[in-house]
Amino acid sequence: MIILALESSCDETSAAIVERSDSGFKVLSNVIASQIETHRLYGGVVPEIASRAHIEAISKITYEAIETAEVNISEIGLVAVTANPGLIGALLVGVNFAKAFALANSIPLVAVDHIKGHIAAAYLTDDENSPRPPFLALAISGGHTSIYKVEDYTEYHTVGRTRDDAIGEAYDKIGRLIGIPYPAGRGFDELSSEGFFRASGECADPYKKYRKSDAYKNGTMTLPSPALSDGSLDFSFSGLKTAAVNLLNKYKMQGVELDRALFAARYTYEATEAVAKKIGMALSENPGFDLVVAGGVAANSHIRKRLSEVAKAAGARLFIPPLCYCGDNAAMIAAQGYYEYLSGNLSDSALNASAQDFEE
Ligand code: KG4
Ligand code: ZN
Repeated sequence: MIILALESSCDETSAAIVERSDSGFKVLSNVIASQIETHRLYGGVVPEIASRAHIEAISKITYEAIETAEVNISEIGLVAVTANPGLIGALLVGVNFAKAFALANSIPLVAVDHIKGHIAAAYLTDDENSPRPPFLALAISGGHTSIYKVEDYTEYHTVGRTRDDAIGEAYDKIGRLIGIPYPAGRGFDELSSEGFFRASGECADPYKKYRKSDAYKNGTMTLPSPALSDGSLDFSFSGLKTAAVNLLNKYKMQGVELDRALFAARYTYEATEAVAKKIGMALSENPGFDLVVAGGVAANSHIRKRLSEVAKAAGARLFIPPLCYCGDNAAMIAAQGYYEYLSGNLSDSALNASAQDFEE
C-alpha cells in the first residue's frame, strides 16, 4: 500500500509518501518545509504566521513528495493526516487539504494523533527491527513529556506526564535566556556537551563521569529535579525552569558572568536524570516491556545515551528513531495512519482538527 501523509501541527509543513509492504515500511519521500527562520525573529512560534505559512506550502510540498517518490496519484491507497494535538489553525490547514485530496481522488482518509505519530516513527523500517506492542513509550517534544503503555498499535494508556511545562518548551525558554536561537534544543545539546567535558575533564564519556563524580554539585549552580518524588511517573518542568530563571537573574544582579556551558550542562543533567529515573521506574514496573523514545527532544545526544544505559540495565530493547524522524515529519504520520486504517478508524469529510490530546 502507498500512503500519502500530511503534517502541519506546529511550525513544519510536511508531506510524505510511504510504502507499506509485507516486510515493513519504506519511506519513498519525506518533504519538510520548515518555518523556523520566520518564527526565530519572535523567539517562538506565532500561531497566525504558522497557519499562513502552512497554507502557502501545503500544496507545493504534497506534489513535491509525490514527484520525488515517483508514484502516480492513482497508486495512493490511503491519505493520513495529523488532526490533533497542536495549533488549531495550523492543524486545520493539513486536515482540510487532506480531506479535499482524499475526496477528489476517492482515497480512504485516516486522522492521526501527532504524539502517536512521533512514536510510530520507530516503525519506519523493516518489521524485524521494529518495536511490537505492548511496549513503553516516552514522548519528549515541545508540547509533551509523557510515558505511555502502548497496548496495541492504536491503544495507548498514559502512565506518566508532565503536570505543567513540557521538556522541549522549557529547553526553548531557558535557551533563549542564555542566547541560543529558537528552537534552542539542539544548541543547548551542543553547549551542554562542552560543559560536561569542561566540568569532568573526560573526553570519552564526559556525561558519565559528571554523573558519577561530585563535580556537578560544586559551585552555585544548584537546580531542582523535574522528576516528582511522589512515587508517580510524573514530571514538573516549571519548577526547574523557574529555578533556572532565578539562578540566571541572581548572576545578573551580582554582576557575575555566567559560564553558559557549565550552566547548560547542569540543566541538561537534571532534565536527563529525571527522564532516566522515571523510565527506570516504568521499566521495572513493567518487566519484559521494550522502550520507544520519540519526539523532537529524543534527538538530544545525552538523553539518547543515558536512556540506552537505563534500558540495557532493565534488559529492555530500546528503539529511538533516527534523528531525521525525531522532529516533526509526515513519514511518521503515515506509519501510524497505516495502523489506524487496519483498526478501521476511517474518517470522512466531517473530520475536524482538535488542539487536544487523544482521549483514553
Ligand atoms: O517534536 P517536535 O519537533 O515538535 C513538537 O511536537 O513539539 O519537538 C520540538 C522540540 C523543541 O522544543 C526543540 O528545541 C527540541 O524539540 N529539540 C531538542 C533537540 N532537538 C530538538 N531538545 C533537546 N536536544 C536536542 N538535540
Ligand atoms: Zn512533534
